[in-house]
Order: sequence, then C-alpha cells, then structure tokens
Amino acid sequence: MLRSLLLYLSERKGLQDFILRRKFARGLARRFVAGETLDEAIQVTRALNARGMLVTLDHLGESVEREDQAKRAAEAYRAILERVHEERVQTGISIKLTQIGLAIDPELCRGHLRSIAEAARRYDNFVRIDMEASEYVELTLQLFYELNDEFRNVGAVIQSYLRRSESDVNELSSRGASVRLCKGAYKEPDEVAFQRKKEVDASYAQLLEILMNSDSPLAIATHDSRIIDAAKRLLRTNSKRKAPAEFQMLYGVRRDVQAQLVAEGYRMRVYVPYGTEWYPYFMRRMAERPANLVFMLRALKGK
Ligand code: FDA
Repeated sequence: MLRSLLLYLSERKGLQDFILRRKFARGLARRFVAGETLDEAIQVTRALNARGMLVTLDHLGESVEREDQAKRAAEAYRAILERVHEERVQTGISIKLTQIGLAIDPELCRGHLRSIAEAARRYDNFVRIDMEASEYVELTLQLFYELNDEFRNVGAVIQSYLRRSESDVNELSSRGASVRLCKGAYKEPDEVAFQRKKEVDASYAQLLEILMNSDSPLAIATHDSRIIDAAKRLLRTNSKRKAPAEFQMLYGVRRDVQAQLVAEGYRMRVYVPYGTEWYPYFMRRMAERPANLVFMLRALKGK
C-alpha cells in the first residue's frame, strides 16, 4: 500500500516542486544522493575508490519534455566523462534514456546516446543504460542492441519483476552483452510485472543463473542478502567463468555489506546519484523501504 502511494507520489510534478524547495528535504535526500554538483560527486567517488569500490555516476534527471533539456543532459554527460578522465577516478556513468529525449522522440535520443557512447569510448569509459518504466523497455533495448553491435562499452539493465525478462536475458546473453540485473523500481501492472516479492525474487534467481552460465559481463545489483549469498555460491561453482562479474549497490544503502564484499575480495560498484533533480529517485528509495521514511522523520524531529 505505502509502496504504491510513494511510487505514485514520485511521479507528481506539483509535489516535486514543493519538496525541492524545502531545505529540510534536501538534507534528508543527502543520505542517498552525493550532492548537487559534479565536484561533490567526484569527491564522493574518490572516497569510495579509496575504500576499494568502483562507482557509476548518475546525473539525476528523467522524463524531460523539451528538446533543449535533453540536449543539456547529453552535454552534461559528455562533460562528466571528460572530467572523470582528467580526475582519474574509477567511475562509469549510468544514464536514463528519458533524460536524453526518449519520451520526446526516439531519433533525438538515439543521436544523444551515440554521442555519449562515443565520448565514453574515447576516454575508455563505460555507459550503463538504466531501465525505466515498462513503457520504455522495448525502445530502450532496441536502442541498446543497435549500439551494442558497434560499441562494447555500453551495458543494459534487466528488471526481474518484468514477465518478459527471461526472453530478454536469453537474447542479451546470446549476444554476450553486458547486463546489470536488478529487481525493478517502478509501479507496474500485473499483466506486465510480478507483484509478489516471492515471485520477483524467484525470477531474479532464475535470471541470475542464466546470466552466470553465459559470457555476458554481469552486474548483480541488489542489497538482498539471500541473493548475494546465492550469487557468491554461483560464482564459486562457475569459477571458470571468463566474463567479469561484480556486485552493485546504491549509495547510502547497506554500506556495511558493501564494505564486507570488498573485504572478501569481490568487485563492488556503488551507484552514486547527484544533481538537483533528486525527487523521483529519492521517492523510489523510500518506496523500497518505507521504514526509511520513519527513520528520516525521526531524525528530523530530533534536530
Ligand atoms: P529488496 O527491495 O528486497 O531489499 C532487500 C534488502 O535490502 C531490504 O530488506 C533492505 O534491508 C535493503 N534495502 C533495499 N532497498 C533499500 C533502501 N532503499 N534503503 C534501505 N535499505 C534498502 N531499478 C530499475 O528499475 N532500473 C534500474 O536501472 C535500476 N538500477 C539499479 C542499480 C543498482 C546498482 C541497484 C542496487 C539498484 C537499481 N535499481 C534499478 C533498483 C532496484 O530495481 C530495486 O528497486 C532496489 O535495488 C531494491 O531491491 P533489492 O534488490 O535491494 O531488494
């Protein structure tokens, strides 16, 4: 119930404008967001690198409605890649295609995506294409497949809650494409996505096994201890697996487990979002664990 309400609120522009203007809300978001500027994001990246963790940077923003906004977002990503190269920090980038125009015109988006992939290739960096709400999945994968034939420095994301994901994983793994596997963070109808946690988790386990037995570079994106343990077992039994595998977690979530995985010798990458457009991202994090909301409101009361 609360999850659905929070996901519903995550899409309300009016509430977003109200919340973004509140100083206390910016303070709360800092638990999950590295800051509002690239300087702050680089600082956080450097600190995580020093603790043995890789990073993927997300310049927050999604669902843009105007071409000039999409253009600015693409320029910002190219500038991030240049800066990351100069600063020599260990980070790739994660982008949302609706941020660079997918909801306006797929052609516009294709052009921007290509320019970002080219910049990433120039700097020997990597672009992960985040997966958004189900209405964008088909187009996102089509654009990814086009690009993947030419660029090997791009990766896709699969959400285990989607009923279609088994067939997508089979396609991606037959191409040896790089895949981040996550559960999925949006509100989806029953025809499209499993609704019960048990089903979403079972689907994750099944997709993980397919990917583990493939040549696809794999990112296991979850904070779920049971899945992490299962992945470790699979990595042990597939010790001859040639393609790289890494764990990925969100900035500010289960930091203890992140450190533990590094201590055990696993590759660990932290997804670090930054920017002023943090509202929908923050609300999805609240929806994943409504207890966060209670903790945060308590912290606020204590101030
Ligand atoms: P689950 O939600 O079952 O949580 C397992 C445990 O982890 C919880 O019991 C709790 O202890 C902890 N936990 C999880 N979320 C928490 C939170 N927000 N705060 C505090 N504790 C929390 N989704 C998507 O649709 N498209 C995408 O491209 C991505 N990309 C992505 C990248 C990376 C690196 C990660 C880790 C996740 C994503 N996601 C995503 C989000 C993903 O789909 C999912 O919503 C969250 O990861 C939560 O699911 P878990 O697998 O952690 O399991």
